[in-house]
Amino acid sequence: MNLMKHLTSTEDLSLSEVEAILDRTRRFKNNFKDNSIQRTLKDRLIITIFFENSTRTRSSFEVAAKRLGAEVVSLDVSKSSTSKGETLYDTASNLDAMMPDAIIVRHKDSGVPKILSNYISCPILNAGDGSHAHPSQALLDLFTIKEHFNFGEIRGKRIAIVGDIKNSRVANSNIELLGRMGLDITLVAPPHFMPKRPSLKQSHALEPILDEVDIIMSLRTQIERHSNATYASLKDYARDFCITKDRIGDRDILLLHPGPVNRNIDIDDEMLSDPRCKVLTQVQNGVFVRMSILEKLILDSQA
Ligand code: NCD
Repeated sequence: MNLMKHLTSTEDLSLSEVEAILDRTRRFKNNFKDNSIQRTLKDRLIITIFFENSTRTRSSFEVAAKRLGAEVVSLDVSKSSTSKGETLYDTASNLDAMMPDAIIVRHKDSGVPKILSNYISCPILNAGDGSHAHPSQALLDLFTIKEHFNFGEIRGKRIAIVGDIKNSRVANSNIELLGRMGLDITLVAPPHFMPKRPSLKQSHALEPILDEVDIIMSLRTQIERHSNATYASLKDYARDFCITKDRIGDRDILLLHPGPVNRNIDIDDEMLSDPRCKVLTQVQNGVFVRMSILEKLILDSQA
């Protein structure tokens, strides 16, 4: 039986594993401040293979690996053999034959990391697959939420996930993980961006829920995943769903966004520079969370 632990979706982690990753993340963040991070992945080799563009997830994983002393090899997919017709299976087997300690993969198709995990003898980390899952993003969002509440109780905290939820792997992973952590989730989107999730509260407008939430997670409209134009224009979407200073006023909320932000479509300039908006804190926490994930998966697999 293959006991190798992969991270293809948040469901791969039990709640106690999630808590352990978050505790470790907190320690990494504190250790970073006093310059005392141990290089626990020294001499380990990690391969990143991104079949789809990435703004920050790839660099975040690479920085995380290097902070722990690991070496990173990044495959340039445009030059790799997959574009010459090699099957995914063959690409995976070839990477595996080089005996890396972990492989980080992003792909435009849902399910690819899971499939690869069947053929690979080191941990596979999903850095985003289609509209399916983005587990490290959900873990860093959860960490940022916990930090905001001073690592106290977050069960029952109310979060609105706003935007193109249907096409968002970030939303999927957050719904799974935050739901399991006991957060009270409301989905806010126009009908064509709303997934079929009968068990969750839904709203087709932002205003009615603003007084009902502690956290707003705004998402980017996933234009590249739309098969046909679904909203008349991004401007029309922004008119109804952009998180603006005018709408939020002085409410006490935490504002999150996974990036990349469409300025003045998802969130307006004023809210982006407002201290309640923690987009850059999310990016900073992302490195510490990924250090924690890499360390756990690699060291557990070699124990
Ligand atoms: C997201 C992604 O690529 O899934 N970005 C990220 O990883 N931080 C979200 C997006 O592209 O909108």
